[in-house]
Amino acid sequence: MDKRAVLLSPIQIGTRTAQNRFFIQPMECNDADPEGNPTDLTYQRYENLFRGEAGLVCLEAITITDKNRSRMNQLFIMPQNLPALTRFVSRLREVNPKTLFIFQLTHSGELSNPEFSKRLSVNPLPGFEAEVITEEQFDKIVDDFVLAAKLTYEAGADGIDMKFCHGYLGSQVLRPYNSRKWKYGGPWENRRQFAFDLYERIRKVVPDPNFLIGSKISVWEGFPGGFGTAGPDTPIIDLTEPIDLVKGLEERGAQFFIQSAGSPSITISLTQADKDHPYFAYLHQFFAKVLKENVRRETVIIGSNYSVFGKGKNKLQAVSQEDASLLTYGAKNIERGYVDMIGLGRQSLADPLLPLKLREGREDEINYCTTCDNCLELLIQQAPIGCATYNKYYTDVLVQTRKVKGKLRVNHT
Ligand SMILES: Cc1cc2nc3c(=O)[nH]c(=O)nc-3n(C[C@H](O)[C@H](O)[C@H](O)COP(=O)(O)O)c2cc1C
Repeated sequence: MDKRAVLLSPIQIGTRTAQNRFFIQPMECNDADPEGNPTDLTYQRYENLFRGEAGLVCLEAITITDKNRSRMNQLFIMPQNLPALTRFVSRLREVNPKTLFIFQLTHSGELSNPEFSKRLSVNPLPGFEAEVITEEQFDKIVDDFVLAAKLTYEAGADGIDMKFCHGYLGSQVLRPYNSRKWKYGGPWENRRQFAFDLYERIRKVVPDPNFLIGSKISVWEGFPGGFGTAGPDTPIIDLTEPIDLVKGLEERGAQFFIQSAGSPSITISLTQADKDHPYFAYLHQFFAKVLKENVRRETVIIGSNYSVFGKGKNKLQAVSQEDASLLTYGAKNIERGYVDMIGLGRQSLADPLLPLKLREGREDEINYCTTCDNCLELLIQQAPIGCATYNKYYTDVLVQTRKVKGKLRVNHT
């Protein structure tokens, strides 16, 4: 197998073409200004990613409301943000017009940070003291999602990732734990209707067939009643609902899905396999393969959790270093038909130029993510986020953050 040829081959997504198989995962980096607009730091991060030539870049989780959010300095997508977002997209197009760019739309629901925001839930999980959302409040949230999709289009982006992962509001509605009696609660037919209504309304307000729609989905959340489980009080894996969801969303215009798993505030190692538990990444491979087997041939499946593979010097056993390395493992998954693209999350912070370096034959210059998870420490501490291993600016941010707040052990176990 020629891994370079596989990874650098183009792929069609809907009517659009991504120039290679690299997908830049949405990575919230908490560096927007108080109005939720991009700052110089945000520009620098994305300009580097666009220079890096990935086929498809997803903007980090951008909140549809400033009232319920998980990050202090999160990006907002409300009507007043349109001029700043339009400038942002057009600058990135100047850097590299070929890279496709989508926005990940989110509402944090019960993961909103109560220090500066309001926690809302469709059915609060134990330990997440949240206010229960009324149907009227929820209808307004759906309206705001639809408006945000329209604003994304007007800002000039290529599409949206309607976020259904990692325990944020989209996952909260879909999971069996949402057993409360209300319009979008209880039986699967009610819960899925939320996603179906949203897609149908978004397609109506943005009828342009070139505008991409898809979702990042936690296929199995990994706790009792989480999405992908057999019922509201069991952790048993049952993918009937995730499979039905992707099929229903395809019928409503979805052209791609980003496979993920877990809800990091509950199951962090599952969402982000870490250096002590790299084998969690194999669960993602399985979930991606299941999605791939159940969607139409033309629907693009993007796999997650590749950063832990790095150069192949990880704790994966019973596999050669070459086969345990990101590029070989990723290319093999594409060749075997498990996924169409591979997602780079923490790796994209470590080296935003990876696809470019591979194209130019500079593979030995790639900075591989060490999964030290200092980026997660910065995230939890509400600091601006970047790679503290390879980028001096963020090393200094980390040192400063630890001086003020103390060192935090990101708890994977
Ligand atoms: C600092 C940080 C920020 C993240 N922000 C987001 C986000 O905005 N949206 C999202 O869906 N996932 C987010 N994630 C999860 C990643 O996109 C990705 O799913 C996960 O890190 C696994 O991929 P990796 O092994 O390549 O890092 C974040 C992860 C980290 C470490």
